[in-house]
Amino acid sequence: MRISASFLSSSNIPVDLKKLNETDVDYIHVDIMDGKFVPNKTMPFSEMKNIYKYTNKRLDVHLMVENPKKYIPLYAELNTEFITFHVETMDNIEENLELIKSYGIKCGLAIKPSTPVKSLVPYLPLLDLILVMSVEPGKGGQSFILESQDKVKEVRHLVNAYHSKALINVDGGIDATTKDKCQECDILTSGSYIIKSESFQEQINNLR
Ligand code: DX5
Ligand code: ZN
Repeated sequence: MRISASFLSSSNIPVDLKKLNETDVDYIHVDIMDGKFVPNKTMPFSEMKNIYKYTNKRLDVHLMVENPKKYIPLYAELNTEFITFHVETMDNIEENLELIKSYGIKCGLAIKPSTPVKSLVPYLPLLDLILVMSVEPGKGGQSFILESQDKVKEVRHLVNAYHSKALINVDGGIDATTKDKCQECDILTSGSYIIKSESFQEQINNLR
């Protein structure tokens, strides 16, 4: 299992990014919030971009924003593996997926817990990643929504049925117990379970 570490709940981002850099974590999950798509807001890109000097891991960018187009060129500048935005943004989804691809970066769509899986169907041929939210997007440290277990299975069926190459990433409330409910995925994104612990590597090992 690949692991992506979210630092949204970090109280000292430079220190925690340096610590993560010493582990074998696969990606650094970057949560971006605009205060519109979700109530909270992350720091502006001008500040955000300085913190990436503390890591040489590839970034897994999760845009929780109304207007992904504004953010895609900024995050395409960094050491980015995936840029994912939400299917609930509705507008210009194909255009935004193509924009991500134009930078040679893998593109993804995220779905909130209440959004039906079938909303992904029109975009499946374009997708490199599907991010299944197992909490309401907006903040770290929430409990895994149990229904997400069926949702992950449903997304796996869809990906297989359409012969899609998309990887499945599950995000929200992932720990050593809830990971067992997501065995059909390819990547687990975990925040507080790793960041709030004494040994980041030990927690990462527990998730794999
Ligand atoms: C929630 C974010 C998640 C979150 C994961 O809005 O998208 O990436 O930071 O953190 P935990 O593992 O604490 O739920
Ligand atoms: Zn996230």
